[in-house]
Parts: sequence; C-alpha cells; structure tokens
Amino acid sequence: MKALILSGGKGTRLRPLTYTGAKQLVPVANKPILWYGIEAIAATGITEVGIIISPETGEEVKAKTGDGSRFGVQITYILQETPAGLAHAVKIAQPFLGDAPFILYLGDNLIKDELGTFLTEFKEKQLDALILLRSVKNPSSFGVAEVEDGGRIRRLVEKPKDPPSNLALVGVYFFSADIHRAIAQIQPSARGELEITDAIQTLIDLQYQVNAQQLTGWWLDTGKKDDLLEANRIILDEYLESNIQGTLDHDSQVIGRVSIGKNTQLINCTVRGPAAIGDNCYLENCFIGPYSSIANDVKLIDTDIDHSVLLSGAKVMNIHQRIVDSLIGQRVSLTSAPRRPRALRFLVGDDSMIEIH
Ligand code: G1P
Repeated sequence: MKALILSGGKGTRLRPLTYTGAKQLVPVANKPILWYGIEAIAATGITEVGIIISPETGEEVKAKTGDGSRFGVQITYILQETPAGLAHAVKIAQPFLGDAPFILYLGDNLIKDELGTFLTEFKEKQLDALILLRSVKNPSSFGVAEVEDGGRIRRLVEKPKDPPSNLALVGVYFFSADIHRAIAQIQPSARGELEITDAIQTLIDLQYQVNAQQLTGWWLDTGKKDDLLEANRIILDEYLESNIQGTLDHDSQVIGRVSIGKNTQLINCTVRGPAAIGDNCYLENCFIGPYSSIANDVKLIDTDIDHSVLLSGAKVMNIHQRIVDSLIGQRVSLTSAPRRPRALRFLVGDDSMIEIH
C-alpha cells in the first residue's frame, strides 16, 4: 500500500496568501496543513508516500517537508507541470504507484476519523475503491454522491448545479490499481480537468467494487479563510497541549491551554487558551484570546487578538480595536498611531480584504 498526497494547485480561494506560498503550507495551529495528512498516513503504517507538487510552490513544499524522515516515511516528489486535475495527478504518478493499491489524499483536507479503520475495510473487502462522504450545506462546491438505500453508490457528479444529495466527496480516497484503467478512459471535464470523480464513476459503470463510508467526525477542507479559521479552532480545541518555553514577566498570565515557543517574550500580556504562540515572538501589552495561532517571529504591541491566525514575521502595533476572525499573512505590518488615528493609510496586496467595523 502506498499513498499519494496532492500538494499542487493554485490555491485561488486563499489569495492573497497563496500568491507567495503553497496553500498546503498555510499553518493550522502553527503546523502546515499538509503535515497533518502525512502524519495521518504514517499512522496507518504506510511508508512510501508520493507528493504531487507544482512548478510554482514545489520547491517550498520540498524544502519545508523534506525527505519524510521526520514523519517516519519516505517521500518521493512528483512534479505536475499544469493543474490538469486530480485524475491527471494520479496518471503522472503511475511510475511511482506501479500496481500498488494506494490512498489518494488531497493535501488541504483534514479529517478527524483515523484512516486505519477505512484501510482495514478496503483491504478486507478487497474493494477497487472506497470513498468517504460527509453531509455538507453547500454540496454544489464539491463532488456529490447519490446513494441508494443499501449504501450502494448510484452516481457521482462533480460540482453539480442541482445536487442529487448533500453528501460531498471527501478528499481522501482508497484505490486499487484498477483506477489507472478508469482514468485512461475519461475525458477532461467542462473546467478542463481530468476529474477523479469521473474516474470513480467509470469504475462504478464497469461494475467494479466501489464502496462509500460516511464520516462520523469532522472534515475540514481548508481552501478558504473561514474554513481555515475553523480548522484552527478545532485543532487547537482538540489537540493543543500546554507547553510554555518562552518567558513571561510578572504582569503576564496564561489561562487554560497555551503553548509558547522558544525565545518568545511576553510583557504585560494575557493569553487565554486554547492558543498557540510560536518561537522568537515579542508581545507587549497584549490580550490573546482563544483560538488564536501566532507563528514564529511575530511582534505584537498594544494589540488585542481573538480567533485569528497570524503567519510568521507579522507585526501588529497599537490597533485600538480587537482583531477578530482574521488571517494575517507573512511579514504583514499592521500599525497605528499610539493615540486614536485620524486617518487610515494602506498598502494592501491584490485580493486582500479589510473590513472596518
Ligand atoms: C476536489 C474534488 C471534489 C471533492 C473536493 C474535496 O475539489 O474534485 O470532488 O469533493 O476536492 O475537497 P477541488 O478542491 O478540486 O475543487
């Protein structure tokens, strides 16, 4: 059994952050999203992992993630020159995959359920494909399954205008090598991509054994800002452990589960967990509220933050209102005059969003 993780694509829905970085490297609770997937795969005992990368962000993904030794797996990077679809990614990974059955894992997806349970079912029933489904409010944004009463899948459609159910296809799939035969038969979709959804439909049409399982735990597709904040909230809530390595002065306090990294200094600050603060940060006169993740090398002065994610090198100073539900990119500088400002001055990148309430 092998695994193929997709870490290419353009990440259009997470712009502007994805102009300068891979969407799969955006951190959730201060760890790249992609790494959660690698860890989930490593936990099943799979050691051969292929990662599909794009020309734009591939080098960054490689440099950050390495050869896999930190996860106990062996990573092979596979370059996809153009984002021509999930099934296209599987096609170009064929030399790596060979005849092995494999897990296909979309690198911006996170699921609570352990993969091992599904893997056991896939192996024991000798399935050709096992797909995971989850009911969602906006099925038109996903691949959607029409399921018969007994659980058999009748039909799969990619991003239907008129969805046959509210059961979305989760970005984690289990395949036998027969998927390659199905991929060889499909044509690009209306959006010009070879869709894995169409390849699975082909397996169904050809009477291969395709089963579906509904997820019981959460599923997060972190492709957009609010989904990413929600992923951050859930991961902090469920997994964060208290770990204070930095220094706090007498006027600072932490309440609840909080992690503070090496060489980070807090002066007259209150941090209410769950919240994670990285290494080499400097915080003075701040309140950091629950569900906040602050990456490395961040500087915060006279700032009040709640339910937000700040990426590395960000600097926020003298903002007189609480910052909430925000995603602040690498090296962003957000400052204000020490007294209440009379004017706002911006240098904001393409696709940025600023809401003043
Ligand atoms: C892809 C799949 C879709 C699936 C989704 C899950 O969509 O095509 O069927 O429901 O991942 O994240 P995309 O992210 O390419 O829009």
